[in-house]
Amino acid sequence: MLDRIRRDVWETFANDPERLVHIKGVVATALLLARKMRIDRRRILIAAYLHDITKNISEKAHKALIREYYPEEALSDLTPPLYHALSAAAYVRKFYGIDDAETLRAIGSHTIGRPRMTPLEKVLFLADYIEPNRPYPIAREVRAIAFEDIDKAVFTAIDHSIRHFEKEDGHIPKAAYAVRDYYAAKGACHG
Ligand SMILES: [Fe+2]
Ligand SMILES: [Fe+2]
Repeated sequence: MLDRIRRDVWETFANDPERLVHIKGVVATALLLARKMRIDRRRILIAAYLHDITKNISEKAHKALIREYYPEEALSDLTPPLYHALSAAAYVRKFYGIDDAETLRAIGSHTIGRPRMTPLEKVLFLADYIEPNRPYPIAREVRAIAFEDIDKAVFTAIDHSIRHFEKEDGHIPKAAYAVRDYYAAKGACHG
């Protein structure tokens, strides 16, 4: 299964080398975090390789995939750049027959996270945020925290994203505030 997944990922992004570099960074970072958190290597590898698999499909294709497996409301809170997480989870279910709920949730919430994430979900969420090819300084900041205090790292990442989008007057999903509130209440506030 893993060999097929790797082949598919390489083929899918044959013309998008930057995406491949990002995916390799996510895989490497997720493995490091997974070892620290003592979580299953095979599950995190599947999630890390496939988390962006639908990144380059059309908006129409995202919506069709999402509607096959999720209620209509799942779409209403999301902006188009966020569709790919849920559509990737749907894709993985449809084309690989993967039905492990935690793997699907990890892929489906890798962009904005989720309250009460399991360790596997947190590892994918953070690996996507901090992998070494991410150019912004906050990625380095969160990386330094991630290996010490994973909940604080999740809070710092989501808090920074929300404040960044607020400054840019972008739409912020209500779900993102719920995630921030949850991890803030866990005593994970920084400063
Ligand atoms: Fe993504
Ligand atoms: Fe990603």
